[in-house]
Amino acid sequence: MLKERILKTENDTTQFAKELAPILKKGDVLALYGELGAGKTFFTQKLCKFLGVKENVSSPSYVLMNEYMGTCTIRHLDLYRLDAAEEVLELGLYDLYEDAITVIEWPEIADGMLPENTIHIYFEFIDQIRKVTIKSVLFPNSPPDPLS
Ligand SMILES: Nc1ncnc2c1ncn2[C@@H]1O[C@H](COP(=O)(O)OP(=O)(O)OP(=O)(O)O)[C@@H](O)[C@H]1O
Ligand SMILES: [Mg+2]
Repeated sequence: MLKERILKTENDTTQFAKELAPILKKGDVLALYGELGAGKTFFTQKLCKFLGVKENVSSPSYVLMNEYMGTCTIRHLDLYRLDAAEEVLELGLYDLYEDAITVIEWPEIADGMLPENTIHIYFEFIDQIRKVTIKSVLFPNSPPDPLS
């Protein structure tokens, strides 16, 4: 299934995060696609807030990975700076999924290393219009569906 929504304002993105957060559980992986400034980190900051994270969530562009505690462990990765799939393996990505909710910005390089249940979220920012598309084998065509 594939659903889209226009995100006119930051509030719309916040609302999207608010609706998605209660559906998520330990073991879920979110792959966030989109150009620089598309809103991946902004979305993750709000998502973490709705998952009960109290501390400040910052972009992991330089540190590769941050870990937070909310309703469960949340790991936030940004693979933009990695050049090769081997570096993703060195991060130990496969071993990370099970005990946390994992959110990955710039996941393209980890293509093939994402579990089948990965929720793929595409952020677009074209001609001042922001749009998000969510693709997941997990969500049935009935609620809970954050974009319906
Ligand atoms: N509707 C919106 N949704 C999300 N962010 C928005 C929106 N409108 C404006 N913004 C702003 O756009 C910026 C998005 O930046 P953000 O760091 O989230 O991008 P990113 O996709 O993580 O980029 P990068 O690839 O560099 O990590 C933020 O400064 C945010 O305040
Ligand atoms: Mg970012």
